[in-house]
Amino acid sequence: MLNAKEKLVQDKIVVVTGANRGLGKAIAEVFAWEGAVVLLLGRSRDALLEVEEELRTKGGRADHCVCDLSTDEHIYAAVDEILKKYGRIDVLVNNAGIETDLPFIKMPMELFDEMMRFNFRQLAVMTKAVLPAMMERKYGSIVNIASAAGERGLPESTAYSASKAAVINFSQTLAEELRPYHIRVNCLNPGLLDTELFWQSATKDYLLEKCGDIISLETLGYSAVFLASDLSDGLTCQSVTVRGISRW
Ligand SMILES: NC(=O)c1ccc[n+]([C@@H]2O[C@H](COP(=O)([O-])OP(=O)(O)OC[C@H]3O[C@@H](n4cnc5c(N)ncnc54)[C@H](O)[C@@H]3O)[C@@H](O)[C@H]2O)c1
Repeated sequence: MLNAKEKLVQDKIVVVTGANRGLGKAIAEVFAWEGAVVLLLGRSRDALLEVEEELRTKGGRADHCVCDLSTDEHIYAAVDEILKKYGRIDVLVNNAGIETDLPFIKMPMELFDEMMRFNFRQLAVMTKAVLPAMMERKYGSIVNIASAAGERGLPESTAYSASKAAVINFSQTLAEELRPYHIRVNCLNPGLLDTELFWQSATKDYLLEKCGDIISLETLGYSAVFLASDLSDGLTCQSVTVRGISRW
């Protein structure tokens, strides 16, 4: 059990993808408040530096690594850089994701492929890049940000919903494979969040009407910390929904 005064993820080396804004930034903040050294991954150095500065000003520990997650080489190079500098990765939060809403019949298959590729395949590549170092130490926790849409899809969101369903299934399957290595893999499935991704959504009126409250980013951040920390020791292979209402 944790000492009541202990921070939840003290000194853990935590990688958060897509950490320059939205949910990724909020997750990075909560990990930093809870004692972690947070490695911020994203495409824009300026945006990452801004978040890093903000976290440091508030007393957190953060560093950044520029990485275009759509490219395998960038992913492996970023993980290499982090391992050389910090020697280990304790926690990986696969947060980055993309969405474009369109009725399926109108969706160009290039766009369909891009969402499936980025949200699912590239998350798997990031995971594959981090795993050898975790397996060697027989320690690690992976938190994948899927979506409530991955449990039950949303109209005008076929590719996005299917990509998130793939993330959930991938996480559960991988968790079983990694049990002998004491590496935990869990999925967080947010409902509506107040981020750019949601507000660009063509279906937002439908979502607001059907899907209930918008959940705070801090609630999600603490859910990720819970899944990554020793508070949830032994908990693996789970798909955890975080939303303001049960839609079904
Ligand atoms: N907003 C919601 O209502 C909601 C609901 C459920 C799940 N989610 C999931 O939460 C996660 C975060 O989404 P968000 O709402 O903060 O959206 P967002 O659009 O604000 O953030 C997405 C992040 O991914 C990063 N990203 C995109 N392409 C990238 C690339 N090629 N390389 C590196 N980084 C890249 C962006 O820079 C950004 O930091 C996503 O996986 C999303 O699917 C969001």
